Amino acid sequence: MSIAVAAGAYLHHMQIQSADPESLARFYADTMDMSPRRLESGEWLLEGPQRRMLFAVGANKKLGFAAFACRDAQGLANIRAHAVSHGAEIVPSPSPLFGLGAFAVRDPDGHCIVFGLGYAETTRKGVRGPLQHLTLATRDPEAIERFYVGTLGFAVSDYVRDADGRVMTCWMRSNHEHHTLACFRKSSPGIDHHSYEAGDWAAIKDWCDRMGNRRIPIMWGPGRHGPGNNLFIFIEDPDRNWIEISAELEVVHDRPPQVWPQEEHTLNLWGRGILRD
Ligand SMILES: [Fe+2]
Repeated sequence: MSIAVAAGAYLHHMQIQSADPESLARFYADTMDMSPRRLESGEWLLEGPQRRMLFAVGANKKLGFAAFACRDAQGLANIRAHAVSHGAEIVPSPSPLFGLGAFAVRDPDGHCIVFGLGYAETTRKGVRGPLQHLTLATRDPEAIERFYVGTLGFAVSDYVRDADGRVMTCWMRSNHEHHTLACFRKSSPGIDHHSYEAGDWAAIKDWCDRMGNRRIPIMWGPGRHGPGNNLFIFIEDPDRNWIEISAELEVVHDRPPQVWPQEEHTLNLWGRGILRD
C-alpha cells in the first residue's frame, strides 16, 4: 500500500486567495452552509460539518495552500520521511489550523501542499458535504504525477488519455477514496475545482434544492463521471471558482489504474452533457 494511503491522508482544508475574501466568506456561509470567522491573520475561516475553507487577500482563484490531515502522527512522519528521501524540500506549514508537526512542500507548479494532524471538531449540524478533493490544472500532468505519487506516496486510481495517448487527467488517492487530488492538462496552471462529498443521490437533490432556493445556477450536472463513478453538480462562487458537490465516489482498495478515453470523462454519462473545455 502506498505511503499516503497507509496514512489515510484526506483533504482537510484549503486556502484560496481573493481580491475580496469577505464576499467569498459571505457566499460560502450562506450557500455552503458554513460559519464565518475572521482570524487574527486577517484570513476568513469558514467551517461546516467536516469542511473548512480559508480565504485570504491575494490574486483571485490562486491556491494559497491545500492541507491534508493524516490519521495519526506515525502516518504524518512516514509521509515526511518519504518526501525527504525523494528529494522534497520541507518548509514550515503556513496553516493556522494545524499544530506542531505539520509541514509543507511545493509541487512542480509551485502549489503549497501541507500535511498535518486533524482535530476533533465541535458538532455542528448542517447539510452533509465533507471537503473531499482538489483538482489542479497543469501544463505537465506527468510531472504532477511524479511528485504526488513518487515523492508524496499517493496512488494512481485512473488516467484519461487522448487519442494520441497523452495523459489528459490523472486521478490520485491518499486514502481509499478514488481521488483526493487530480490534475487536468490545461494551458495554464492553477485550481480547476474543489469538491465536497455529499454521500448519496438524496443529498445531491437537497443541495440542488438549496441552490434553487438561492437562485444559484447549476453550471454542469446533475450527471455521473466515468472515472470515480461519482454523481456530481457544479456551481461557481463569486470569483468563479468551480465548486463540485459529489456523491457515490468509488472506493478503491487494490486494483490497477484504468485508462479512460477522453470523451467518457468530459461528457456527462447520462447524456450528451456539456463539454467544459
Ligand atoms: Fe472533481
